[in-house]
Amino acid sequence: MRRSLGLGLLLVTACGGGIKVPETIPVAPGVPGPISPAIALPPVDTSARSAAGGVAGRALIAPDWPLTQRVRSIAAEHAMVVTSHPLASDVGVDILRRGGNAVDAAVAVAFALAVVHPVAGNLGGGGFMVVRMHDDTVRTLDFREAAPSGATRSMYVDSAGNARQSSLTGHLSVGVPGSVAGLFEAHRRFGHLPWKELVAPAVRLAREGHTLDGVRSRQITREAERLARFPASRAQFLVNGEAPPAGTWFVQPDVARTLQLIADSGPQVFYGGSIAELIVQEMARGGGLITRDDLARYRAKWRDPIEIGYRGYTIYTMPPPSGGGVTLAEILNVMEGYAPLPPFGSARLMHLQTEAMRRAYADRNAFLGDPDFVDIPLSRLLSKSYAATLRADIDPQRATPSPPARGARSEGTETTHYSIVDADGNAVSCTTTLNNDFGSAVTVTGAGFLLNDEMDDFMTAPGKPNLFGLVQGEANAIAPGKRMLSGMTPAIVLDPAGRLFLVLGSPGGSRITTAVYQVLSNAIDQDQPLAAAVAAPRLHHQAVPDTLHLEPDGFVQLSIDSLEAMGHKVNVWSYKMGITTSMSRDWRAAAAPAAAPAAPPITAPFVFFPRSLPTIAPATAPPATLAASALVTPRPFMIVSTPTTDASMA
Ligand code: DON
Repeated sequence: MRRSLGLGLLLVTACGGGIKVPETIPVAPGVPGPISPAIALPPVDTSARSAAGGVAGRALIAPDWPLTQRVRSIAAEHAMVVTSHPLASDVGVDILRRGGNAVDAAVAVAFALAVVHPVAGNLGGGGFMVVRMHDDTVRTLDFREAAPSGATRSMYVDSAGNARQSSLTGHLSVGVPGSVAGLFEAHRRFGHLPWKELVAPAVRLAREGHTLDGVRSRQITREAERLARFPASRAQFLVNGEAPPAGTWFVQPDVARTLQLIADSGPQVFYGGSIAELIVQEMARGGGLITRDDLARYRAKWRDPIEIGYRGYTIYTMPPPSGGGVTLAEILNVMEGYAPLPPFGSARLMHLQTEAMRRAYADRNAFLGDPDFVDIPLSRLLSKSYAATLRADIDPQRATPSPPARGARSEGTETTHYSIVDADGNAVSCTTTLNNDFGSAVTVTGAGFLLNDEMDDFMTAPGKPNLFGLVQGEANAIAPGKRMLSGMTPAIVLDPAGRLFLVLGSPGGSRITTAVYQVLSNAIDQDQPLAAAVAAPRLHHQAVPDTLHLEPDGFVQLSIDSLEAMGHKVNVWSYKMGITTSMSRDWRAAAAPAAAPAAPPITAPFVFFPRSLPTIAPATAPPATLAASALVTPRPFMIVSTPTTDASMA
């Protein structure tokens, strides 16, 4: 569980634009404020692509909120790679320098993350990728895991009707992995450099080794007990049963061999060759269900992106089997009807956001699942008219009760997001996961990689919460070959002029979608530069349990008291939530003369804002060094490669 932010948060103003920090007002502790006045917000015409609706009033943010002053932005002139590990970011940058495009870089980054960020980077998991090419082609790729053919609806239900732990740890929790098929498919459709070249950096990192940093060492420590239960995981990650300390040179010969096979033979070796054989043997060791046929049948699937129009901006994100896109669309569509919005951090705004989230998550839990198995009323859920009916049901003064259920667990770090933009303006937004920390904790003997525990994302027991407290419905019941519903919300946002504006995503389980929503809303509605938008305190509501979660120390007591008076059950977390991995283009800065004389057409700098940067090391990503090395590349551009922090909170 995250309890505090690391020390590495820094403040840098970006691209000459500066950071507009939400105003901070002192509030006398313990002084309850009046209930916010009723919100009588005129509905706005959302059919036209108009500018943002504006904000009435001053932002409210607690005076001792630490993030606003400590978030750091990093600018790049033409291209950028943002991942959860500096070595993976460097791999992506190197691919761009060799003439690879954003998709090439994404493939190489994903393999590198499987080596250097094993808590979530993976060969044995899955994910979702949003691609927007500079010619405006937008595609979304589903490489989510699938239930094995032997899976049954009630395989995890015990005699008391509760879900067994076997959906979370061990061989039975594993879904058919999608990552290798997905990365190959992304490359087949959009890649430029040879496949082998993209896998090679990961092979090198695994074979030659790298220094395990403190973040990764702590992650292993937290899960050492679970990993120790499985001999191959113990051998792969532990030394005498304990996590290797920071500074350990970490060499992974089994992973290197696996990656080399994938480099040489593509996904066939994974889904039908010697790696498939090792996976099936591993299943036999622990009562897992994945068969050779399950592996042979697995396919990554291109799906139509969800396109959300919001106050003139366009957001492209994932359709089911990720629930992220639909949930995000419903929240945005409901909120679009309020203009001008109450200011950031006010009880009036937080109430509306909570009610929008409550309704969107209720729909998510009721209607969403794998579209190849269930009928989803997608066009209705995504429509502005449906949002209007949801909005009409919101009482501006009072919380609408949701049915009670058990609480959600604290946030983990187990998913990872990366965002890439290349010098031509192609963008990739990709979220990938093993689900839990180190997935099922099962490593494939002889192949060195971890398997997911994604089966827990299904409705494992009717009426019971999953790992993230989500109580899901029939649409997400287990069936052979079906893909489990996800909350992952990789997104690419265009501004009203159709220019690339934001590339973002987040880990955080059920909190992924609300994290992405809040960064978007802060940037678009509150006109906050991305650093402030990412740094701002967050709230979360997922319908069930009926609890409004707040980050600690961020919101003013006046707002919290008002929300309670309106009927919200407020719970202040003891930790900070969802670290988005975001980059934006600062078009204001674009008006300034371009720094590089031979700049390609994209001249506006990208600005990257992690929420914290404990892992940044001067040796890994000093902009000056990268800028200098960029001068000797055939296509001069400045790149900044940085780690992000979805791995950073101990
Ligand atoms: O697909 C999902 O929604 C989950 N398996 C994601 C898990 C996650 O984000 C865990 N990390 N914090």
